[in-house]
Amino acid sequence: MKNETTVDNGSYTELNKAGAEEVLKWAFERFHPNIALASSFGAEDMVVLDMIRKLNPEARVFSLDTQRLHTETYDLLHRAEQKYNLKVERMTPQADAVEEMVREHGLNLFYDSVDKRKMCCGVRKVKPLKRILSTLQAWITGLRRDQAATRADVHKVGVDEGFGGIIKVNPIADWSSDQVWDYIRVHDVPYNLLHDRGFPSIGCEPCTRPVKPGEDPRAGRWWWELGAGQKECGLHATVPSNETTKM
Ligand code: ADX
Ligand code: SF4
Repeated sequence: MKNETTVDNGSYTELNKAGAEEVLKWAFERFHPNIALASSFGAEDMVVLDMIRKLNPEARVFSLDTQRLHTETYDLLHRAEQKYNLKVERMTPQADAVEEMVREHGLNLFYDSVDKRKMCCGVRKVKPLKRILSTLQAWITGLRRDQAATRADVHKVGVDEGFGGIIKVNPIADWSSDQVWDYIRVHDVPYNLLHDRGFPSIGCEPCTRPVKPGEDPRAGRWWWELGAGQKECGLHATVPSNETTKM
């Protein structure tokens, strides 16, 4: 890496070839405590959580608590806090915004139209995400390239232009689902019990259902909408780029 404070094409290429732990070490050396893992407590996020707490026992974790998550997810959040001696930073939606949306459109507005689904994701996920990202220099995700066509270009470290140019770190971008599950077994990492009941990808309870064997792993997310390969909720609207930036 040319310069400690510059992410450029050269260092980017180097990091893209680096292993997950090496990428995380690089990021924590530069950004801690202004860096945090975004966790939905899915299998990928549990792997990254295990890695970061081993790397730094003070590593921060936040979760977008939409208040519509499965009981099993809240249960795992609690188990993870105990196992890793962690206090998850729960980002909840603004109460008045939820109240207004529900009064106007109903609690389950997302089934009515794609626009209303995006409105709900905006209030319950994207706005709380913006709030916390505005206080950080970098965020970490469990994104993997083979999760969806929209994620095929995800880099290990990039600039997230969609959220003000913050650095986005995706340490397991090049992992397969099998690698994730091997890590979970070898390191005895707790995981969401819904994964054993046919949920490869877990979001909010009313918007996620199990998939059949052989089905697209994200087919159970917003299953009533068409275009399975294109479904995103706004958290990862912009894939990180490798363009030059100064920090
Ligand atoms: S989503 O955009 O369709 O909901 P997905 O469930 O695949 O995303 O998760 C991809 C990554 O987004 C996760 O690895 C995690 O870093 C982040 N993420 C998703 N949902 C949440 C959430 N509720 N709280 C915090 N981070 C989340
Ligand atoms: Fe709302 Fe469903 Fe989006 Fe959750 S996934 S924020 S319940 S539309």
